[in-house]
Amino acid sequence: MRIAMIGTGYVGLVSGVCFSDFGHEVICVDKDPKKIEMLEAGKVPIFEPGLDDLMARNVNAGRLSFTTDLKRAVDGADAVFIAVGTPTRRGDGHADLTYVMAAAAEIGQALTGYAVIVTKSTVPVGTNRKVAEAVRAAAPEADFDVASNPEFLREGAAIDDFMRPDRVVVGVQTERAGEVMSDIYRPLYLRDFPIMVTDLESAEMIKYAANAFLATKITFINEIAALCERVGADVKKVSKGMGMDGRIGNKFLHAGPGYGGSCFPKDTAALARIGQEHAVPMQITEAVMRVNEGVKVRMVEKLRDLCDGSFNGKTIVVLGVTFKPNTDDMRDAPSLTIVPALVGGGAHVRVVDPEGFREGENLLPGVQWQSDPYAATEGADLMVLLTEWNEFRALDLKRIAGSMAVARMADLRNIYNRSDAMQAGFEAYEAVGR
Ligand SMILES: NC(=O)c1ccc[n+]([C@@H]2O[C@H](COP(=O)([O-])OP(=O)(O)OC[C@H]3O[C@@H](n4cnc5c(N)ncnc54)[C@H](O)[C@@H]3O)[C@@H](O)[C@H]2O)c1
Repeated sequence: MRIAMIGTGYVGLVSGVCFSDFGHEVICVDKDPKKIEMLEAGKVPIFEPGLDDLMARNVNAGRLSFTTDLKRAVDGADAVFIAVGTPTRRGDGHADLTYVMAAAAEIGQALTGYAVIVTKSTVPVGTNRKVAEAVRAAAPEADFDVASNPEFLREGAAIDDFMRPDRVVVGVQTERAGEVMSDIYRPLYLRDFPIMVTDLESAEMIKYAANAFLATKITFINEIAALCERVGADVKKVSKGMGMDGRIGNKFLHAGPGYGGSCFPKDTAALARIGQEHAVPMQITEAVMRVNEGVKVRMVEKLRDLCDGSFNGKTIVVLGVTFKPNTDDMRDAPSLTIVPALVGGGAHVRVVDPEGFREGENLLPGVQWQSDPYAATEGADLMVLLTEWNEFRALDLKRIAGSMAVARMADLRNIYNRSDAMQAGFEAYEAVGR
């Protein structure tokens, strides 16, 4: 199979690399010449564990290449994947489809023979039909089908998620398109990973419903955590006890500083918007969005309380600012609410994050970036564990407490526990929901 992948962000690049590893011939396209230059030089523009090796292997095997020339990539392709961004449109919460529609028109102009145009980007119900219209408008004679193939990979575990998915969802209108999609995913099908073939609209809806549900689960436990703090319960034990129920499951039940990232905030906003447009308000999703904003504010208040009511003049060390570990992605990270509140309150903020600097440098003005948690906490008044990178999971608490001006810790990921922190010499320890 010959595949063109339009967009080489977190999803497009991982998908393109993995498809080439399946044995397909893949050309990845991006309109950003800097990204393509890097990729051609063998460098991966994002941080995703394992991606550089897998990419090199497939480039060396001659199955994977990169270009800014969409026409060249689409020429002769059996399938053209659209994996461009669908950020929140300013003002109304709707998914911004500008990039998707622009790509569709460009693809229409570039088609040379039958191809399936597959939307991998997360798009509102009805978008695949609009993609077909845009292609048809650009090329009235073109021979093509559209397919919806939403992506469920998680940043930080993207390759494994792509290679060993819980399921692959494919929405098609014709048998011919279904056959092309089956050929593309055959290596997964042969290894018994479920491929669900459905209609376009259901495929589009599955992605939004899944993300909104996961955001709801996280937000639910965050709200329970707030109550646990008041009534003297421990949310870690509550999560464990809930998660043992097979109907509930233990995933996405870890209380923390609120969800963020490149998907949940924008996808919940888009689903809420779709509901409003169809006069079927997504009341649960709307409440989740509101509560999640409140969780972040609650975290700031927790930190302020730990600082005796004021950040002014305090030295605060924030460990981890990416929206989760093992990614450099800062989109909608809780740190973007929490850190500016500290800086704005007059704190001297030191930040340590293994991969966050490249993106975070511009997003978090007024902070000092450091590379070593031990050096960073020397003389500090508060240590905040915000993103649970592995290197922050087994810190020598005694050494840290001994070097801080005032040994206080806010463990917003519930990694440590109060008795260990106190034994190590911390004089104050606050977690979430405990
Ligand atoms: N990031 C995730 O974890 C994730 C997971 C599942 C689904 N998704 C969805 O996948 C889509 C892509 O997300 P992402 O995080 O990879 O986005 P991204 O912003 O990291 O990457 C998008 C890329 O597309 C390029 N691009 C835009 N228009 C183009 C065009 N006309 N031609 C060529 N290149 C073009 C951009 O330059 C950019 O490099 C979104 O709809 C997102 O919701 C993302």
